[in-house]
Amino acid sequence: MFRVLIAAAALLTTEGLLVQGPAQSLVAQLGGSITLPCSVETPFPVEELKVEWKKTGEEAYMHLFQNGEVRPEAQYPSYRDRAHFFPEQIFKGNFSILLENITVKDTGIYRCVVYFDQDVGEIPVTIQHVERVVVTGEDEIVFGRVGEEVVLNCMIDSHIPPQHFDEVSWKKVDKKSDIVLVLLFQNGTIFPESSHEHYRDRAEFFREEIPKGNFSLRLKNVQTADKGEYMCEVHAEYSVSSATVEIGRLDTGKKPMYINYLQVVCPNICLSIAFVLWGVIEAVLHDLWNASQRNEAVLVSVGVILLSSMPASLQALSNIFLTRFFDIHFSLRFVTSM
Ligand SMILES: *[C@@H]1O[C@H](CO)[C@@H](O)[C@H](O)[C@H]1NC(C)=O
Ligand SMILES: *[C@@H]1O[C@H](CO)[C@@H](O)[C@H](O)[C@H]1NC(C)=O
Ligand SMILES: *[C@@H]1O[C@H](CO)[C@@H](O)[C@H](O)[C@H]1NC(C)=O
Ligand SMILES: *[C@@H]1O[C@H](CO)[C@@H](O)[C@H](O)[C@H]1NC(C)=O
Repeated sequence: MFRVLIAAAALLTTEGLLVQGPAQSLVAQLGGSITLPCSVETPFPVEELKVEWKKTGEEAYMHLFQNGEVRPEAQYPSYRDRAHFFPEQIFKGNFSILLENITVKDTGIYRCVVYFDQDVGEIPVTIQHVERVVVTGEDEIVFGRVGEEVVLNCMIDSHIPPQHFDEVSWKKVDKKSDIVLVLLFQNGTIFPESSHEHYRDRAEFFREEIPKGNFSLRLKNVQTADKGEYMCEVHAEYSVSSATVEIGRLDTGKKPMYINYLQVVCPNICLSIAFVLWGVIEAVLHDLWNASQRNEAVLVSVGVILLSSMPASLQALSNIFLTRFFDIHFSLRFVTSM
């Protein structure tokens, strides 16, 4: 009676053998690996066992076990070295497959078909979709000033909550032989003490941004030696994804280029203009003097002398100690005063 019941249940659910699979569709990680479950309750003698793994729509096998051994030669080439049984598990009735190096093409329905004696049983295993951990910030070039700070962007988009990434690291990677750890986040925690000494106390994440997947790096007090390529690398569920950001030119001077330009070119031109003006005004002055309007003449000449000496004195001043903001301020005044 008991045997009949079991047979009836098996008939209802399968074509003979009761084969077990996953409770739900699977989600794989791009570049990662996944186990496709398939097993029977009670193991069979493997010599009389045949297990076929096939993907719907494909003729050849993903993998095959027959006559007591795995048959890689029967595999579709794209699965060779990528799909494996667990050999020590087969004897226990566990015919699961490990599929490695997942690509988007691996999405689909697979069938695990088990033949034993006259019986057949099968179970579908679906890889519903392949998730990718997307890292953005790629190929950005960041500029800065020595002594100030720069922000290197890295945004990670994934179905995995950022706190559960195995690891996120920032590394300086331009010297392949000498990759330097700038900052490490592992097991949900930031490890500032892991940073290379060159970056210690200078590199930080924006803590409050991490839950959004924003793993941008703030690098303080940048040095000329910081120039180069940096990689934001994420390890999550077997897959590794990354983006690189470059720290480009770092200005050492305090002045942007256009200010230098103003200071080099303008004084010469301005001086020439001032001399021409001087000539014109001198003639006027002469007339005025003759007309005995001395007070106004003195005022005008003082003005002209100030005006003509302005470019040179400003350049001298700013070269000595003025800050960038004063430079701009004076330069603007200097331009409008001409
Ligand atoms: C998986 O991919 C990596 C990188 O492309 C490659 O080096 C490795 O050999 C691949 N492994 C298999 C089993 O195909
Ligand atoms: C089958 O073997 C794999 C790999 O060892 C394991 O992950 C899985 O849990 C096993 N399944 C069963 C039903 O024992
Ligand atoms: C993070 O966890 C992994 C695995 O649990 C462990 O190997 C690693 O040492 C941990 N890292 C740190 C920095 O504690
Ligand atoms: C990440 O956070 C930093 C600091 O708040 C911010 O400057 C940056 O714009 C953020 N990036 C993105 C993509 O939101």
